[in-house]
Amino acid sequence: MRATQDLYELGDAPEIGTAPKKMYASLIRRERYGQPVDAFRTEVVDVPPVGRGQVLVKVMAAGINYNNVWAALGSPLDVIAARQKAGATEDFHIGGSDLSGIVWAVGEDVRGVKLGDEVVVLANRWDEKAEDIRLGGDPTWSTSQRVWGYEENYGSFAQFAVVDDYMCHPKPARLSWAEAACYMATAATAYRQLFGWPPHTVRPGDPVLIWGGAGGLGCIAIQLVRHVGGIPVAVVSSEERGEFCLKLGAEGYIDRRKFGHWGRLPDTSDDEAMGRWLSGARAFGRAFWDVLGERRSPRIVLEHSGADTIPTSLYLCDNGGMVVLCGGTTGYNGDVDLRFLWMRQKRLQGSHVATAREAREVTRLIDQGIIDPCLSRTFDFDEIGLAHQLIHDNRHPAGNMAARVGDRG
Ligand SMILES: NC(=O)c1ccc[n+]([C@@H]2O[C@H](COP(=O)([O-])OP(=O)(O)OC[C@H]3O[C@@H](n4cnc5c(N)ncnc54)[C@H](OP(=O)(O)O)[C@@H]3O)[C@@H](O)[C@H]2O)c1
Repeated sequence: MRATQDLYELGDAPEIGTAPKKMYASLIRRERYGQPVDAFRTEVVDVPPVGRGQVLVKVMAAGINYNNVWAALGSPLDVIAARQKAGATEDFHIGGSDLSGIVWAVGEDVRGVKLGDEVVVLANRWDEKAEDIRLGGDPTWSTSQRVWGYEENYGSFAQFAVVDDYMCHPKPARLSWAEAACYMATAATAYRQLFGWPPHTVRPGDPVLIWGGAGGLGCIAIQLVRHVGGIPVAVVSSEERGEFCLKLGAEGYIDRRKFGHWGRLPDTSDDEAMGRWLSGARAFGRAFWDVLGERRSPRIVLEHSGADTIPTSLYLCDNGGMVVLCGGTTGYNGDVDLRFLWMRQKRLQGSHVATAREAREVTRLIDQGIIDPCLSRTFDFDEIGLAHQLIHDNRHPAGNMAARVGDRG
């Protein structure tokens, strides 16, 4: 059903159950690829159609994530070109992989949500009829898996977003719209990294090393590890971020600016260079022991920083432990000294987003007040580019960020 007006101002909307023809969106075009602050611009576009099993959500607030820094840069994936190659006609990208909002219209065969429900969304989309899912596979491994609001268009940086019904979860009632919008992508991903890869799940007493402890993934990971009795040790690049981690429950923090062995591993046959690298990695290991107060290595290392840190992560990880990685912010060359991997029987595990169950479980912990979503700053709709620029420059405040969309209060 169509609304009486074609376009409504932000904060305004037609009657529930109806959708306008047009909407405001903070979007990216190929000709603007580059610095995020320039790549995003508010424009008016058509409201997308709602398909079978889908709902139209009136976006109240949108979460800011690293993935749309990559989308703005047009690298490592040109998201618009990739979709056009697959047959899409849109020449723009509406990013945004987190939202809080209200179910405003429903398509055929929608289950689990109804008009008026207040929801948050896990940005992991797959085809429930895909053969690999029908054969019992984890849907996050499906060849049909895509990240909504990054690989897929019509994300949350717009007045309305279209999502599949299974992507919706009840909004924690105690949270504001912005608090509810800021956490899912990082929280569900961190939850899967820490509890999704048995037997390497965090156990009471397990030391866990968390890169970027004050970042989006890190701030949730610290709390999750502490909640189950593990010992979270954060890595940061400022005292202020370190203090933030301590308040969240970190046992202590390591300031990475004090070390200089970052980057790719030297050639392992170059004894002198390897010696220099090893003394840096060992010093970092001693800093870890200092925080812990005993000579134990991390059973689990939560990785996402990538090329700069992966050699240290693998070196430091305990014998039989796991480095679990969901990103490669500093580069994709993950150098491994294979001797440490096989002789000490370590596991290097990739992890991507989360299942619906994992999203629901972490949302419950947030709903119960056990985990703080750590909303740091709420931007206005026209500042979505600025928010991504701050992440790109590593100048963003500690925690998770959001932007106001329909919520004008
Ligand atoms: N696959 C998935 O499902 C998934 C989901 C969420 C995020 N990710 C990816 O994970 C990465 C981090 O996401 P996020 O939301 O946590 O980002 P974030 O909020 O920017 O936090 C990342 C943290 O990494 C640290 N960092 C930056 N450069 C570093 C370096 N050279 N060495 C060590 N640490 C460094 C920074 O902390 P300090 O400067 O204080 O050390 C920063 O706070 C991104 O690449 C993102 O795309 C993947």
